[in-house]
Amino acid sequence: MEKLIDLISKEVKEAFEKAGYESSYGTVTVSNRPDLCEYQCNGAMAVAKQYHKAPIQIASEVADNLNDNAVIDSAQAVNPGFLNINIRGGFLAGYLKDMSQCADGRFGLDDIGRGRKVVVDYGGPNAAKALHVGHLRSAVIGEAVKRIFNYAGYDAIGDIHMGDWGLQMGLVITELKERFPDLPYFADSFEGEYPKEAPITIEELGEIYPTAAGKAKVDPAYKDKAMEATLKLQNGQRGYRALWKQIMDISVANMKKIYDSLDVHFELWKGESDVQDIIPGMVSYLKDGGYAHMSEGALVIDVKEDTDTKEMPPCIVIKSDGASLYNTTDLATIMERTEKIDPVCMVYLTDKRQDLYFEQVFRASRKSKLVKPDTELVHIGFGTVNGKDGKPFKTRDGGVMPLEMLIKDINDRMYERILENRDIDPDEAKSISNTVSLAAIKYGDLSNQASKDYIFDVDKFTSSEGNTGPYILYTMVRIRSILAKYTEQGGSVPVLPSSDMEFIAPKSASQKALMLALSGFAPVIEGACAEVAPHRICAYIYSLANAFNGFYHDTKILACEDDKEKSGYIAILVLTLKILEACIKMLGFDAPSRM
Ligand code: ARG
Repeated sequence: MEKLIDLISKEVKEAFEKAGYESSYGTVTVSNRPDLCEYQCNGAMAVAKQYHKAPIQIASEVADNLNDNAVIDSAQAVNPGFLNINIRGGFLAGYLKDMSQCADGRFGLDDIGRGRKVVVDYGGPNAAKALHVGHLRSAVIGEAVKRIFNYAGYDAIGDIHMGDWGLQMGLVITELKERFPDLPYFADSFEGEYPKEAPITIEELGEIYPTAAGKAKVDPAYKDKAMEATLKLQNGQRGYRALWKQIMDISVANMKKIYDSLDVHFELWKGESDVQDIIPGMVSYLKDGGYAHMSEGALVIDVKEDTDTKEMPPCIVIKSDGASLYNTTDLATIMERTEKIDPVCMVYLTDKRQDLYFEQVFRASRKSKLVKPDTELVHIGFGTVNGKDGKPFKTRDGGVMPLEMLIKDINDRMYERILENRDIDPDEAKSISNTVSLAAIKYGDLSNQASKDYIFDVDKFTSSEGNTGPYILYTMVRIRSILAKYTEQGGSVPVLPSSDMEFIAPKSASQKALMLALSGFAPVIEGACAEVAPHRICAYIYSLANAFNGFYHDTKILACEDDKEKSGYIAILVLTLKILEACIKMLGFDAPSRM
């Protein structure tokens, strides 16, 4: 469906042409002074230079051509040469009707992704290590990005891309060997069956990795052992592989539980280890093609470019001891995705401290043609989650905040708030608080531009006022309850897509503001998709919720005595609710039926 702003531009362009000027100057934008007008056009100022005329005179000529226009209600020339434009209420009503008739239920958003695949690489947990606050953003933003792409018609495939292969595994194996040297995994000569289950629990694993990592920091001999164990694992030592597989099983079960609780789901549960078999082939390809060369014993790809202003070290493919590393698995994964999935884009979500790393990997894969030239490679580097002191979020005793604890904290606070001054069944309160606290966490994160740090503020996030998830949900619950009352009174609430929903020209400023906000849905989603920016959807639904609440306070909806007007209001309510529902679904959370 054509965007409203383009329909308005079309009229203004014609008016420029009719006045004898080039039509391209008639481009219209949403007004940056909503107190003065709804749309504006600054083209007269630019034309003036070309035609050597006063801009205000040109603007007036164009404005005259917009009298009696079916789309534009008023166009006013103001000094020094702006055109302030308002849209006709009746035209706006017709536009909303078209939006609510869209058979694909996308409210006029074009099917921009049709037939195109995207891989979203997010989550990125490391198997031996507990999930902590740092993993929240990758999960939350990645899930939203994936859902936005899917909504826009792409086939988006989420890959968790676990860190299941590197030194962390060698460290865990080394520590287990120190503690339980008699286990059969460590006996080179052992040929029998290994135990069926892992020798440790997930809780024990949570302690073993940090202990081992701590030891390696102070004891070089221990670190050497861990590196050796890593290499042996990678080279396929039978006992190590068996032990690794069992550690993976308990890790993955635990990860699934936590990601499920965040309503985050992956199509592919792949890890760095999955490309192990294709690495030798890739290495030969890189060598034979002359893309990689030896440098100080390591195989590297140079990625420096003349225009670089910052340091750009080569991308190491194989270390001098023959081990593969993080880079190797990422290059091989790009190669594999290109061969097996052939996406138009691969999006990666990690902490922004990996910016340089991804720049190297992307350049290396382009230079060596592991990826097709027109496949986009995008890294979204996100900022840190901080506590109220502005420093990385910690537990009360100063440790790294486990993700589960963070989720529990916000759940508890939300539960308290729901019980506050109210008589509600505790079970129902529990279920509501689960739904709302997820919105609180996700919205709290997603409403910030990804690259920025933000403060994890439990009180603010769980508040039902201000720019928060609960505020959006309250607004939705309010609309649902009005619609439920309307049904009780014998009205029938239309189901979208619907062709018999009649919108009427707005009667008040707040009604028009809400209708204008609704008309902006498709451009926002298109922008969020093109910029891979879920925060744009948050900003949109916040302004939509504000516009709705403004309208609600000004308008007698159910008490309205004119039937036509009343069903016009109901149409607006239904469209607002459906658009909010679509948006929060994209952001990755739901609304409770009551709050
Ligand atoms: N496991 C990595 C980490 O903790 C993140 C993985 C991101 N994805 C990737 N393809 N490198 O830093």
